[in-house]
Amino acid sequence: MGSVFEAIKSRSSTRGYTDEKLTDDEIKSIVLAGLHAPTATNRQEIRISVVDGSNPVLAELDEEKNKAFGKGRPGAANFYYGAPTVFILSAEESFKWSRLDAGIAVQNMALEAEELGLGSVIIGCIEGAMWGEKREYFDKAFKIPEGYRFEIALAVGHKAVTKEPHTFNESEMVYYI
Ligand SMILES: Cc1cc2nc3c(=O)[nH]c(=O)nc-3n(C[C@H](O)[C@H](O)[C@H](O)COP(=O)(O)O)c2cc1C
Repeated sequence: MGSVFEAIKSRSSTRGYTDEKLTDDEIKSIVLAGLHAPTATNRQEIRISVVDGSNPVLAELDEEKNKAFGKGRPGAANFYYGAPTVFILSAEESFKWSRLDAGIAVQNMALEAEELGLGSVIIGCIEGAMWGEKREYFDKAFKIPEGYRFEIALAVGHKAVTKEPHTFNESEMVYYI
């Protein structure tokens, strides 16, 4: 098993994928990584919808997102960059820690994808579309339960492009007191 810190340091967003599907075992590991994430008061309010990249509802969602926010990155196939699998995380709408918990879960999943040698990218740009006029339709299509709402998504697949991890200015960003 690789070290967690190695996965944290090597992960970067992948914005282009091959056609190769994920195996059931890969999907299962990524889902489990999300379920192992801690939640405030151990509420376990996160739900994960596993969506095949060929699902036509994703194309409808892409169209809806484009209506509100424009086409997105030049050259991008769609909001999930043609990934074979999209994990959609929803959470209890009334629970105050849902957003944070979903963020923790999605990063666990991204790190597991990294450990498996896969690429991933966290997707927030569909928020407006998921919460907009067609919310009921998308919620139903992705089996998001009543009282839950979309929080964040993760596209995962085999990398067709690579990108260096982001850099940062440690001296500006960290305060030792
Ligand atoms: C909450 C959140 C939402 C994001 N939404 C998108 C998105 O909709 N589309 C996208 O291409 N990247 C998205 N990203 C990826 C960021 O742009 C990316 O993590 C950042 O540029 C740093 O690059 P790195 O992931 O390669 O280190 C999102 C990341 C986070 C944490």
